[in-house]
Amino acid sequence: MELIDTHCHLTFDPFTDQIEQVLRRSREAGVTSCITVGTTLEDSQKAIELAERHDNLYATVAVHPHEAKTVTDKTMAQLETLAQSEKVVAVGETGLDFHYDFSTPEQQKEAFTRHLELAADLNLPVIIHSREAFDETLTIMNEFQSTLPKVVFHCFSGSAEQAKILLDKGWYISFTGVVTFKNAEKTRDAAKIVPLDRLMLETDCPYMSPEPMRKQKVNEPALLIHTARFLAELKDLDFTDFARAVTATTKNFFALP
Ligand code: NI
Repeated sequence: MELIDTHCHLTFDPFTDQIEQVLRRSREAGVTSCITVGTTLEDSQKAIELAERHDNLYATVAVHPHEAKTVTDKTMAQLETLAQSEKVVAVGETGLDFHYDFSTPEQQKEAFTRHLELAADLNLPVIIHSREAFDETLTIMNEFQSTLPKVVFHCFSGSAEQAKILLDKGWYISFTGVVTFKNAEKTRDAAKIVPLDRLMLETDCPYMSPEPMRKQKVNEPALLIHTARFLAELKDLDFTDFARAVTATTKNFFALP
């Protein structure tokens, strides 16, 4: 069995000095590849360096919406240069987060637009972070129409109705451990309608450990297995079949070997 954690932050503090153990536990759990996602220029650089040191580890480049206010012409040029690494498989995470106001909505919209332009120029898939900004996110994306490359909405926690809107546009949806949480009935209803050729899995670690491991403070790729098993059961599918299909979707989306 082979699963892929499509969104983790292995450059973050909790993993410093134990990356080898984390990746070993991941492999032992059947999570054979991981994509570590860049959140700032510096972090994107770190993600690439980490990926270049490990097989089956890939990276993405972006400045997270929280840090949108730091984005300049120079930042975007540097991200473009970083994206030349063979280990870079996407632009992201980028988008809008109106839950927090670390950057203003205007700064976030500007940075988001620039990231979408970068993804389109490089023809790389784009990982979208959208929180309490669903309509505004779509408004910006709609301006791109056919020039947008492949799109995944990460850590999806919206409704079935919203999922359908994304699916109708040809986009992909990725679920974290949030779908296993007791109060996530709405997200489970959404997961039920996402076909396996549009569905991906992620931990978003070190955050959000899935049930029944929610008490484990530092989430890690190995725990992806719980979300995977949960979703297979929710969709009433054989686990092996589910894993095979979702992994095929993921490899195709990110052009992984
Ligand atoms: Ni993330």
